[in-house]
Amino acid sequence: MGHGIGQVFAAAGYEVTLYEPDLARAEAGRARIGASLERAVTKGKITADQRHEQLERVGVAASLADAARNADLVVEAVFEDEQVKQALFAEVASHAPESAILASNTSSISITRLAAALPAERRARFVGMHFFSPVPVMPLIELIRGAETSDEAEQSVRDIAAELGKQVIVSRDRPGFIVNRVLMPFLGESMRAYEEGLGSAEDIDTGARIGLNHPMGPLELADFIGLDVCLHIMEVLHEGFGDPRFAAPPVLRQLVDAGHLGQKSGRGFHTYPRDK
Ligand code: 3HC
Repeated sequence: MGHGIGQVFAAAGYEVTLYEPDLARAEAGRARIGASLERAVTKGKITADQRHEQLERVGVAASLADAARNADLVVEAVFEDEQVKQALFAEVASHAPESAILASNTSSISITRLAAALPAERRARFVGMHFFSPVPVMPLIELIRGAETSDEAEQSVRDIAAELGKQVIVSRDRPGFIVNRVLMPFLGESMRAYEEGLGSAEDIDTGARIGLNHPMGPLELADFIGLDVCLHIMEVLHEGFGDPRFAAPPVLRQLVDAGHLGQKSGRGFHTYPRDK
């Protein structure tokens, strides 16, 4: 999601620096922003000059020190591994200005536990800033306060979100926060219904699209999010609440074990391009 997050900040006038441990990946992220802005030009949503200006605001850094040194805000969007995120934030804290807000785009990991990796004086300015895919399209940011997040940090993130044109909801720091807490049981139950042969994947999705006016059915949404990501979030919810209603369905585990991760691997509950 990193490039999508970078894109919305650049569109709102912020100077953005992308950092990946491998510089080529950061450059690929910048190229994806360029391609997305190109589509926006083709559709007449922005001018070619605006594309140029927005892309000019996006740079890449060869080191984390270079990326963080002058940052007002750091948004982390690495894969969902608590230890990896903690190690990253500990390093960010050694480079970023004291005044910087440090934010995680985690979809379910405890903000309080991530903050524990930081020096004590940094924890008040640490928050969850959860974006939704595709980031340029989805107008929501879920703001998660850890045990030590300050009112000032919350207000700063609210002000930034307003500049990005995103609406904020605030969640307490509980597994899955608000959106994934309500979404994952829906996706999980849809997978169980599919597994027991209640209906075809197509009919389950059509039911939600046409009967509930959802833009995507639950199985195609799971494929879109990534089945490995869904599995991980369900595991965090199941472990955190100890409630079987959050348990991942066997069909989901099996697809992930087989390497069928949804859209990104070309196959999940559906095959891609869509087998409509
Ligand atoms: N980047 C930028 N713009 C994009 C885009 C992308 N990756 N994907 C689609 N768009 C834009 C298109 O340009 C188009 O814009 P326009 O209407 O101004 O021309 C608009 O979105 C609609 O796109 P399409 O016509 O290509 O396709 P659809 O109408 O089928 O919409 C969709 C695609 C926006 C993805 C829609 O199906 C949708 O809203 N799906 C649900 C997405 C959702 O629920 N996301 C949240 C997932 S949960 C999450 O992220 C949290 C995590 O923790 C799991």
